[in-house]
Amino acid sequence: MENDHKYLFQNYGDRLPVCFVGGEGSSLYDQDGRRYIDFFAGIAVSTLGHAHPGFVKRLQAQLERPIHSSNWFYNGEQAAAGRLIGELSFPGKTLFVNSGTEANEAALKLARAHGQSISPERYEIISFEGSFHGRTFGGMSATAQEKIRKGFGPIVPGFAYLPFNDIRAVAQKIEQSDRVCAVITELVQGEGGIRIADREFIRRLSALCSERGVLLIIDEVQTGVGRTGRAFAYQHFGIKPDIITLAKGLGGGVPVGAMHARSGLSPLFGKGVHGTTFGGNHLACAAVEFILKELKKPALSKNVSSVSAFIFDRLRSMKAKSPSLIREVRGLGLHIGIELSKPGMDIVKKALAAGLIINCTAERVIRIMPPLNISIRTAREGMKILESILESEASS
Ligand SMILES: Cc1ncc(COP(=O)(O)O)c(C=O)c1O
Repeated sequence: MENDHKYLFQNYGDRLPVCFVGGEGSSLYDQDGRRYIDFFAGIAVSTLGHAHPGFVKRLQAQLERPIHSSNWFYNGEQAAAGRLIGELSFPGKTLFVNSGTEANEAALKLARAHGQSISPERYEIISFEGSFHGRTFGGMSATAQEKIRKGFGPIVPGFAYLPFNDIRAVAQKIEQSDRVCAVITELVQGEGGIRIADREFIRRLSALCSERGVLLIIDEVQTGVGRTGRAFAYQHFGIKPDIITLAKGLGGGVPVGAMHARSGLSPLFGKGVHGTTFGGNHLACAAVEFILKELKKPALSKNVSSVSAFIFDRLRSMKAKSPSLIREVRGLGLHIGIELSKPGMDIVKKALAAGLIINCTAERVIRIMPPLNISIRTAREGMKILESILESEASS
């Protein structure tokens, strides 16, 4: 802790006072060997938990081959990973990057290139209040939350922020001018407090975009790769996005992101137009390949459904017992939010002290996003801890 304060930027608020040195499945261990149940998965990243034997073996094998060679060369792991993304989503082309914000940068640039191919005036991008799309200038400019952009102006021009779930506002904006080239949205606003998009809104948004030649970018950075019980969240909504952006769970902890777009858009990124040194290196794509092959097996999504049903069931009965503390329980699959009537950080700290890792977002929303392969047994252990904390909180 001393070295952290001495040598590192203190940009992450107060870190919780634990340092994990070991992990297995959905458990993490601190320096004293104390076990913590992981209901957080490092912000929805550790898809298969920690030290998954097959994953470890695959990564170890890759370490003895090149882990990096650059995008000057062909890369078998990258091509295989791109193929799997297309098989699990829609036919198209993939571009690998290193993070969620970079995946969105790529999508925003592709959207502008699409707009400029029609008219120089067609550059506006719509995003929605409460969204989160990352911390680079593009990602931050697309993020319709003042607190994320504050102090970094001027931000990238050409973004329009509209209310979430309001189709009339979108229709008005698109019909008012020919300037809109794309809409970017999450389907469950993760950092915004696990707010699920209205199904009818998304269906009408998708229809409107395709009628008007406006690209629909679905930010699946948090919701993708099985988190919601389907490979990608858009598959719950019956729509066909033009572009999806991925990161977090894609590499199961190895940093990697991707933009996947329908094939017709790929010529817009011609030779030399966009790129990255690390993006899609051999190690990252070996990780993606392994994770996506696991995702293709029905067992993983079956587990998400059954653990999700179990957790929702327990949370709903907790809400019935403590309606003054628990306002709402919502989510999809293992992307679950518990909206409280008061700030939730204290509960996160109490849970950690009791051996359970949870998270709080949007100040009052407790977020539960365990590894997708968490067992019912471990989920039950974790829920027991959470229940006793929420019960004593409700009666205090
Ligand atoms: C929906 C969404 N988009 C983009 C990002 C940014 O991803 P990264 O932190 O990997 O840059 C996040 C991160 O929380 C996210 O939840």
